[in-house]
Amino acid sequence: MNVVVTGAAGFIGSTLVDRLLSEGHTVVGIDCFTEYYDEATKRANIAGALGNPNYTLAEIDLTTADLGGVFADVDVVWHLAGQPGVRLSWSAGFERYNTLNILATQRVLEAAQQAGVGRVVYASSSSIYGNAERFPTEETDLPQPFSPYGVTKLAAEHLCSLYAANWGTPTVSLRYFTVYGPRQRPDMAFHRMINAALAGTKFPLFGDGQQRRSFTFVQDVVDATHRGGMTPDVAPGSVFNVAGEQSATVTEVIDMIGEIVGSPLQLDRQPAQAGDALRTGGATERIAAALGWTATTSVYDGLTAQVAHLRTIFERDGAAPPPVD
Ligand SMILES: NC(=O)c1ccc[n+]([C@@H]2O[C@H](COP(=O)([O-])OP(=O)(O)OC[C@H]3O[C@@H](n4cnc5c(N)ncnc54)[C@H](O)[C@@H]3O)[C@@H](O)[C@H]2O)c1
Repeated sequence: MNVVVTGAAGFIGSTLVDRLLSEGHTVVGIDCFTEYYDEATKRANIAGALGNPNYTLAEIDLTTADLGGVFADVDVVWHLAGQPGVRLSWSAGFERYNTLNILATQRVLEAAQQAGVGRVVYASSSSIYGNAERFPTEETDLPQPFSPYGVTKLAAEHLCSLYAANWGTPTVSLRYFTVYGPRQRPDMAFHRMINAALAGTKFPLFGDGQQRRSFTFVQDVVDATHRGGMTPDVAPGSVFNVAGEQSATVTEVIDMIGEIVGSPLQLDRQPAQAGDALRTGGATERIAAALGWTATTSVYDGLTAQVAHLRTIFERDGAAPPPVD
């Protein structure tokens, strides 16, 4: 198949590209290497893919590029490009979220519609639920984002649904619940916790550690994302939770990381941060029925894989630079 992945140099996008190339698909990856985190990290993510003759990297910005030519004769577009992270979405930072999450998605949908792309899969987020009223939260529960980031992810999801309803654009939106594993973004908590444990430095813990999350291993997320593009006869405008089967508190994760790394994580306790939901947990019956997907990786096994990945980098490069925030 001819497929396109946006955000192809990022954490989840690059992992999806590797899966698609391993199956022999012809893949165009789109990424403009935003400055949110180190370009070298993203270049390392795609180093393997670039050696594959079926892979083309298009270094273009979705908010300005003419996408018509790129989307011609394409079976599936996986739209994973975006500006992630809750903490920088306040104040002046919002403009960036508005542009990279909402405008970029509208341009992808418009170009996909014009080009007759067979399926558009959009990477939505559990952050659209905010502090949900019940757990596990179902796709039909009222979205009440608790951060500006969540608002932009929900707005883009609505764009997918309304393009489907008005124009029949075959969209599928996947609400990812906190994704972790090898290549996890350096601003994300598990990445920073593991690096702190390896380096023996203190980890700033925001809140009391009792925040409970559905954590979802990246290979499970890639499998769900792959199914979202490949499963036949999925209703246009569909929305699915992509949530790990096992939830855990932040404190439980900290204990697991200490055990896997072999030295307990030292904590620097800080007040809770604005925009962080206290709990997430997604119902997965709908995606199991429609796409045949459930997560299979335990948090302990997933963390073990992420520790192994970061330990290799740590032993090669030494201590990681200070976290973004
Ligand atoms: N990681 C998670 O836990 C998580 C959870 C829920 C939703 N998501 C969503 O999944 C998607 C991927 O997340 P990730 O963690 O891999 O993030 P990431 O930052 O690692 O990857 C996103 C990539 O998109 C690229 N990009 C951004 N704007 C672009 C534009 N206008 N044109 C071209 N490229 C652009 C960036 O350079 C980056 O490489 C995002 O849309 C995010 O909102 C992620």
